[in-house]
Amino acid sequence: MILWNDRIVKREEVQIDIEDRGYQFGDGVYEVIRVYHGKPFQLDEHLERLERSLNEIRLALPYPMEDFKHLLQQLLDKDPVTDGIIYLQVTRGNALRSHAFPSEAKSVVTAYTREMPRPTKSLAEGIGAHLTNDIRWLRCDIKSLNLLGNVLAKQEALDNDCGEALFHRGDIVTEGSSSNVFIKKDGAWLTHPANHLILNGITRRFVMRLMADLEMPVKEEAFKIADLLNADEVIITSTTQEVMPVVSIDGEPVGNGEVGEWTRSLQNAFERHIS
Ligand SMILES: Cc1ncc(COP(=O)(O)O)c(C=O)c1O
Repeated sequence: MILWNDRIVKREEVQIDIEDRGYQFGDGVYEVIRVYHGKPFQLDEHLERLERSLNEIRLALPYPMEDFKHLLQQLLDKDPVTDGIIYLQVTRGNALRSHAFPSEAKSVVTAYTREMPRPTKSLAEGIGAHLTNDIRWLRCDIKSLNLLGNVLAKQEALDNDCGEALFHRGDIVTEGSSSNVFIKKDGAWLTHPANHLILNGITRRFVMRLMADLEMPVKEEAFKIADLLNADEVIITSTTQEVMPVVSIDGEPVGNGEVGEWTRSLQNAFERHIS
């Protein structure tokens, strides 16, 4: 089933126009919400971020956010998942192709649910990461449908037998192609400040609260490639990747190449919150 504007319909019934601006320009924003044991996780936080992304691109939902929240719950009731996701997007709608905002277009909302098992094997063993130049635009704080820079980076990582690409601008490490990155160095976690160069991940914020609970110092401070390569522990965080250990970078081990102690404590704390 698909939530299509304000109706929940079968997939075959959805009609997306060939001139939908999401399709032609990537003119829209999206969210991916985790579902654990049939319940959405951090739903309000995702909807708050959606509101912010919408405001930043001067787009509005066709109804109040509270109505959207109820529609998403109805979608999940009609098409339940155990461990999965809700994907949703809002585009600037259908209009004759022209770059400027159309006066007549109405935003188009779509959402669906999907089973997605947790990445338990990678969470236990960790993944390899690949460093790549951050070629994206300068508004990475907006969860925009334009993901070409992220897509190319992820493919480059897979082509190098790695699970994630870590972006750098010059010397500074920003984030992953679909995740945020933290390093543990000199007894503290470091992560890039939440400015225009990264997406302020919902998992990033949740994990920072876990760090505080566990009395692990954490600083939102830019760090360099050399710091990453000399870190004791490295993790990436995201809605689907949770607290994912990075055990090697371009083939070189992080620390002793094993999942670190602080990473394990964070994973255990995360597990307690979702179970
Ligand atoms: C570029 C980028 N950074 C960070 C994240 C992590 O965000 P969240 O924890 O909200 O999933 C994502 C998630 O897809 C992403 O695409």
